Amino acid sequence: MPQKQIGILTAGGDAPGLNAAIRGIGKTALEHYDMQILGFRKGFRGVAQNQSSVLSGDHLAGILTQGGTILGTSRDKPHKMTIGGKSMDMTDAIVETYEQLHLDCLVCLGGGGTQKNALHLKKAGLNIMSLPKTIDNDVAGTDMTFGFDTALGIATEAIDRLHSTAHSHHRIIVAELMGHNAGWLTLGAGIAGGADVILIPEIPYQVESIAEAIKKRVQSGKRFSIVAVAEGALTLKQHQTVDRLNEEIAAADDKSLRKQLKSRLRQHEQVHINNTLDLSRQLEELTGLESRTSILGHLQRGGTPSAGDRILATHLGAAAADLINEGQYGIMVAYRNGEAVGVPLEEVAGVKKLVPGDHPWIETARKVGTSLGD
Ligand code: F6P
Repeated sequence: MPQKQIGILTAGGDAPGLNAAIRGIGKTALEHYDMQILGFRKGFRGVAQNQSSVLSGDHLAGILTQGGTILGTSRDKPHKMTIGGKSMDMTDAIVETYEQLHLDCLVCLGGGGTQKNALHLKKAGLNIMSLPKTIDNDVAGTDMTFGFDTALGIATEAIDRLHSTAHSHHRIIVAELMGHNAGWLTLGAGIAGGADVILIPEIPYQVESIAEAIKKRVQSGKRFSIVAVAEGALTLKQHQTVDRLNEEIAAADDKSLRKQLKSRLRQHEQVHINNTLDLSRQLEELTGLESRTSILGHLQRGGTPSAGDRILATHLGAAAADLINEGQYGIMVAYRNGEAVGVPLEEVAGVKKLVPGDHPWIETARKVGTSLGD
């Protein structure tokens, strides 16, 4: 049988564990199946512009512990890529590169957006495989994404550290964590770090109810509070507007109306970029306590992956090479009940895994007296 040739790319925001996954795929493919591996630069752009290089054993050595991605990444979409200042559909160019390089499979490492792009390329006729990566942990079809565990550790440590300074000054500290529109990171780090209030996008909050919870703490002698807020958390009123716009988008059968509504939704989201600062200011007013804000941002995505992420990424990467060897394509290699399994891309693309209302973490947080702002 001729040697299989596989391409690898990393797309979307970077996350700790990407290099561990590249190494897992690469080492297994090279050492067990004698495949040839090409790495594409900067996500789908690298395939569209045919920017690749062979990945040998030497390239894969020493990268397990490195954060980021040795391949570079971008948020470019195959069908909407800015080239020379213009938005272009580069699907055909990607197919051409794939054929020119005689690839047997293109492995796309990424989050929710990447799963959609992977499905798009599958529909264009390519053999595609994807792996679930993101600190947000919001990819459907998998119990966990790599990147999440590291970010959880960093966010938890941040909350731990904020405790002593909040305590010394008798202040409220509002810590904003990432996670896009999903609350996994904030809920997890909030529980692990013992935050007094946890606000996630899935549960609309009311500032008055948070202020009440903080005042109760003061009455019981606790004159400081830590509020862990997800970047995507919304007040009840904002939530209602988003829900209404989403309903209108779903019901709109006219393309231009849908576009208009989507742009209104984006504008609405933009307005709430200052939500955390507003919340901090309002809590100061309502409680009489001094309040400070700490926005953790990209610190949560940087640095060396945790042991958990290294294991998960290596596990899924090695399994991806096995599945390519078996000729199984059009799938995401997911982590389910401790095993790596192939899930059809159709089942994961465009589906967000949010924190369900009855998730045990929510109940746990409430049991230990944490306010969820509702
Ligand atoms: O998807 C990962 C993530 O870090 C989100 O949590 C966050 O909303 C977003 O990426 C930030 O994106 P960028 O790095 O492009 O600013």
